[in-house]
Amino acid sequence: MRKINVFDTTLRDGEQSPGVNLNLEEKLQIASQLECLGVDIIEAGFPAASEGDFQSVKTIAETVKGSSVTGLSRSKKNEIDAAWEALKGGEEPRLHVFIATSPIHMTHKLRMTPDQVIENAVDSVKYAKQRFPHLQWSAEDACRSDLDFLARIIEKVIDAGAEVINLPDTVGFITQEEIRHMFTYLRDTVPNIDKAVLSAHCHDDLGMAVSNSLAAIESGAGQVECTINGIGERAGNASLEEIAVALKIRNDFYKAETGLTLNEIKRTSSLVSKLTGMVVPNNKAVVGENAFAHESGIHQDGVLKEKSTYEIITPDLVGVSANRMVLGKLSGRHAFKEKVQALGYNATEEEINKVFKAFKSLADKKKEITDEDIFALMTEEKAGEAVKYYEVEALQVNYGTNNIPTATVTIQNPEGEILQEAATGSGSVEAVYNTIERIIGGEIKLKDYRIQSITGGRDALAEVYVQIEYDGEEASGRGTANDVLEASARAYINSVNRVLNRKKWPRPQTEKIHV
Ligand code: KIV
Ligand code: ZN
Repeated sequence: MRKINVFDTTLRDGEQSPGVNLNLEEKLQIASQLECLGVDIIEAGFPAASEGDFQSVKTIAETVKGSSVTGLSRSKKNEIDAAWEALKGGEEPRLHVFIATSPIHMTHKLRMTPDQVIENAVDSVKYAKQRFPHLQWSAEDACRSDLDFLARIIEKVIDAGAEVINLPDTVGFITQEEIRHMFTYLRDTVPNIDKAVLSAHCHDDLGMAVSNSLAAIESGAGQVECTINGIGERAGNASLEEIAVALKIRNDFYKAETGLTLNEIKRTSSLVSKLTGMVVPNNKAVVGENAFAHESGIHQDGVLKEKSTYEIITPDLVGVSANRMVLGKLSGRHAFKEKVQALGYNATEEEINKVFKAFKSLADKKKEITDEDIFALMTEEKAGEAVKYYEVEALQVNYGTNNIPTATVTIQNPEGEILQEAATGSGSVEAVYNTIERIIGGEIKLKDYRIQSITGGRDALAEVYVQIEYDGEEASGRGTANDVLEASARAYINSVNRVLNRKKWPRPQTEKIHV
């Protein structure tokens, strides 16, 4: 079996999904989970893009030990320097540097001739090599580049010190046959190609990212770049879980494997979905709610007689457990702590105490506390701590079909003062949001509002996701509570807190760079 390295770019390309804006604590949670999943390389961000990105890459590089941490840089000395400052504290500092190689990008974006692009690429690789022990070079828009030009530049950057050559399908344009041809051609043509690992990085604009990544693996790629749940710029990137499970289930065909701990997949997918607010569609391969549900009578009959009739992936393989019910009102701290540990959390006693309190108050209202509930409480605790400015203390809403909905909200401000206001709205949520706006001051524009239940049942926890614009900044926020209005208020305050939290970092010199 050939070993395929998994390069996860959820925190860089994935974070470029519209509306996604993770804070440092959330990025760290995801990075730690990616480490548990066993990804080989974590692309933690783009250090020169903003001060926030810089700090997250630095913290992740200094914290994560089980996966190699990398950061992105354009072919510019100041960006390579910023990446070095962010990554130098890691176990094995690794840079991902790129420049575009397609005629469209070279002419219209870079305004450089092909020879200038080669010179720039070689110079930046040589410059970076003076510091970074490991270096990956990417040919942005490789899949729309001239193959002979690609062969020429790749030979030169390998000579300059690049050890991984990544060939992105930046706009999700290529077909399987073409990507097979590209990888085969470069392997046959570039004289020093055996000194580097070839890597695929596919986008999903035509829905072909996973199949193209697998086709690249068939044709010699030793690394695949992907994101959890396939999130990313526009239609997203190749989905990590789909590639990993395809290689596992069809190893007879691909004769290749990853080093991933596959039963961490479901948990990683849920965490990323929760923290990014990007819902996993029910019918999504591998991690969707219906991926293991057999609905038709004929299928159910077949599965009952012999699972393999209709089931090619077992839920256990990806960490979907059939037995969900766990704790209840009478469960004590000890049982709770054991459950938290069994779920894979490395929680401090202080965190356990805080979440146990939340667990107890939830258990008063909800009969059965499931793994998903505990997961929600833990995630909120870990992520919430980092963004506490305003806190909802109390909420009261008057609603009647013939009345004007009116809300009274009590909030604690960062100075510990208690503030209270009341306001009306055309509906209960609007009344709550108008009241919060009155307390905080300034206009808060609601750009998106979504609600879902964490488990089934009438007493399920409600999870609200919002996106707002406040004080010239956009932010998303989440709130979880038994009651939908309380969850709505928490989500709103959480998003305002994120804007305020972001203002803690000095503003970036330029607009945040997205590539
Ligand atoms: O899609 C792309 O081309 C990229 C590169 C920056 C690697 O994400
Ligand atoms: Zn990309």
